[in-house]
Amino acid sequence: MELIRNCAYIDGEWTETSGGRFPVLDPATGELIAEVSRSGEADVNRAIAAAERALPEWRARPAAERAAVLRRFTMLLGRHEDELAELLTREQGKPLSESRGEIRYGASFTDFYAEEARRIYGETIPAPDASSRIVVMRQAIGIGAGITPWNFPSAMITRKLAPALAAGCTFVLKPAEATPLSALILAGLLEQAGAPKGVFNVVPGAREDSASIGKVLCADSRVRALSFTGSTAVGKILLAQCAATIKKVGLELGGNAPFIVFDDADLEQAVNGCMVAKFRNAGQTCVAANRILVHAKVYEKFRDALAKRISELRVGPGLEEGVTTGPLIDEAAAKKVEEHLADARDKGATITLGGARHERGGSFFQPTLVESASPDMRLAREETFGPVAALTKFSSEEEAIQIANDTHAGLAAYFYARDIGRVWRVSEALEYGMVGVNTGLVSTVVAPFGGVKESGLGREGSRHGIDEWTDLKYVRMAGL
Ligand code: SIN
Repeated sequence: MELIRNCAYIDGEWTETSGGRFPVLDPATGELIAEVSRSGEADVNRAIAAAERALPEWRARPAAERAAVLRRFTMLLGRHEDELAELLTREQGKPLSESRGEIRYGASFTDFYAEEARRIYGETIPAPDASSRIVVMRQAIGIGAGITPWNFPSAMITRKLAPALAAGCTFVLKPAEATPLSALILAGLLEQAGAPKGVFNVVPGAREDSASIGKVLCADSRVRALSFTGSTAVGKILLAQCAATIKKVGLELGGNAPFIVFDDADLEQAVNGCMVAKFRNAGQTCVAANRILVHAKVYEKFRDALAKRISELRVGPGLEEGVTTGPLIDEAAAKKVEEHLADARDKGATITLGGARHERGGSFFQPTLVESASPDMRLAREETFGPVAALTKFSSEEEAIQIANDTHAGLAAYFYARDIGRVWRVSEALEYGMVGVNTGLVSTVVAPFGGVKESGLGREGSRHGIDEWTDLKYVRMAGL
């Protein structure tokens, strides 16, 4: 059966919108994959209206029934893993093995929240007088909206959608303009899993449509929660726009992750962790190690081992056997990496490996090692979002913590150390929502993913992920 869809999905129908179509291109080849419907204001309004109609019945279903839909969805994600992963690689560019990993990661959310649906517990509170009782219940917040990014075109959808559906919310999604096909394929599978029409709606749009679709979702008072994963700049705009209707807002925004290697670290493990934290998805993750801080005593050893591993990376189209590093998402992404490297060179950094576009052309970029990076450089102040490992030497624990916290971001941080006292001290001192100790991967469904400072609001994954989609209601029964 053909799973790929290219129309908006509103009220259970594949819908031709009024705005024409926009192209979705393969970032590895520049070839056209599909032309997808552009949603306008009227289409988004229709999607919200469909979600509103579907809400009473969906919210009233026993949790076990909503869970059953999510379980069937999980099963379909597993059954169609090959097609889903291949499509993801074609529109996003990451190596096929990483796409498979993302489909499984995405399915871990539908699986987890199928179970969690039955555990949305309330509480009873001892009342202040003998004749009353206090009960607290958690109710579905209503219609939820999601705006999702291109770097994880499938898993960032299920990470929002699954807890929302488990809680009893209905949903309107605006997927990233570069990767709408992975979103539409999910809509088809959720329909097969038995989700009633209107429960999940997808309104794709071109880059030029993003702001107007976002505005409609933020301004509509029927939408009670908005969850966004993307840049801090856009997150701030959406947060301001949601103020008018006092929505609950979940934001997973940019990071500027430090990756600290202390002198007591297991260096082999640190290099392994650094390769994951830095080069997964060609460096295009919000949790990517952006600033690699290495203690002077172990600097040369760590650098040499890392350089060896970087030189072994194989750049190419994600569908090609053996490729570890795909293209960057587009020309603008490659240009940004070039600008960061030019700025670093101007300010005294040395490019030890790579540093330029790859011979494959287009937005392929050479895996790059930079030395003598300093906090004033753009690659230390902004997310580079590319395959660039930038090293900085430090000589004391205090200095490493000071450099690590010297940023407005606070999503993920990593460090490698064996001393137990240091492990506690540094874990507590890092101003981040997530800290990986002796690991380069913090993402897992069972833990709360999210940031502090300008990296966001709210948490996704784990039992806390349900909170974004529920309201607390306290009932006081008096006169008993
Ligand atoms: C992200 O880059 O936004 C998320 C990455 C992850 O969940 O690992």
